[in-house]
Amino acid sequence: MEKLTTVELFAGIGGFRLAAEENGIKTIWANDINKLAAKVYESNFDDGTFILGDINELIDTIPDHDILTAGFPCQPFSKAGKKQGIDDFRGTLFESIVSVLSKRTPRYFILENVNSLLYLARGQNFRTILNALASLQYKIEWNVFNAASFGLPQHRERLIIFGVRDARPNETFFLTVKNEQALEPAVIERIADYTSWKRIAEADKKFGSWGMAYNGTYITADIPEETYFPAKKLKDVLQKSVDKSFDFTADTEKRIENSQYVNKYYNGVQILYNQGGGARMGYSIFGTEGTAPTLTASTSRHYERYAINNTFRRLTNIEYAVYRLS
Ligand SMILES: C[S@@+](CC[C@H](N)C(=O)[O-])C[C@H]1O[C@@H](n2cnc3c(N)ncnc32)[C@H](O)[C@@H]1O
Repeated sequence: MEKLTTVELFAGIGGFRLAAEENGIKTIWANDINKLAAKVYESNFDDGTFILGDINELIDTIPDHDILTAGFPCQPFSKAGKKQGIDDFRGTLFESIVSVLSKRTPRYFILENVNSLLYLARGQNFRTILNALASLQYKIEWNVFNAASFGLPQHRERLIIFGVRDARPNETFFLTVKNEQALEPAVIERIADYTSWKRIAEADKKFGSWGMAYNGTYITADIPEETYFPAKKLKDVLQKSVDKSFDFTADTEKRIENSQYVNKYYNGVQILYNQGGGARMGYSIFGTEGTAPTLTASTSRHYERYAINNTFRRLTNIEYAVYRLS
């Protein structure tokens, strides 16, 4: 059987590519504008599929493919909104996704973004996105996943939006829900009665963590997080011997003088110290008995300090890169 093919927009260092490779899906074209990300991507996947540049100038060169993936930048829609009304996405990077879906009509898409997209600006940016996607003959399902539920020691909640072209509304499509019981019976009944779905254009409040959309209508609910792989702690993935450049012990000890020892857990993250009860991450020192907080793209020596054995240090590039589930 021929392998499914995929195109990876906003590829960064190739998160979707890793998943594709592990599932026997062939990446035939990938793009990002960032030179440093390109360097990492090409050092891992050196087969000429990566194109460096602005996606807006490359749309017409994208080949036909089965699955479009994109972890698109969470750029607000308000600029376009002021002039054109909130359902206008022209001039945003999301426009490139709509453009590829219209021109290349891949059978599936998988998009990733921050989960706050569902509730910030009363859900209006998400409404714009949903409206555009659901008018393109795709049936859509979204859900919020936490990296910690997949056996990674990191609290990282992300919104994943799936689409299948030409699927019927009443076709079973629980791609994202492991256990149907996670949904209340009333919601399951409403899924079956497609005519009870609400109009996307009339959505005026935040969206739930899960939902479906089809042909201008949607249904949504908040569902509890599901676990896919056993939980791991940060201490399970630490490197044994770490270069001195990651060490901030002396400096951190000074900060601790003005900090409170709290040793509490928040979202599964162990917080050992914070300053004056402030919730600011900048003053927190984390332990290793829980998960890491959401890691940032550029590991910061100011904000991410962990108490590890007898040192206070930041995490190493290798510790950041842990992704395997075993
Ligand atoms: C949230 S990150 C995606 C991370 C990716 N999923 C990964 O696994 O690394 C968004 C990416 O969009 C890229 N980007 C931003 N503007 C772009 C543009 N105009 N054309 C192409 N890529 C762009 C950024 O450089 C960044 O790497």
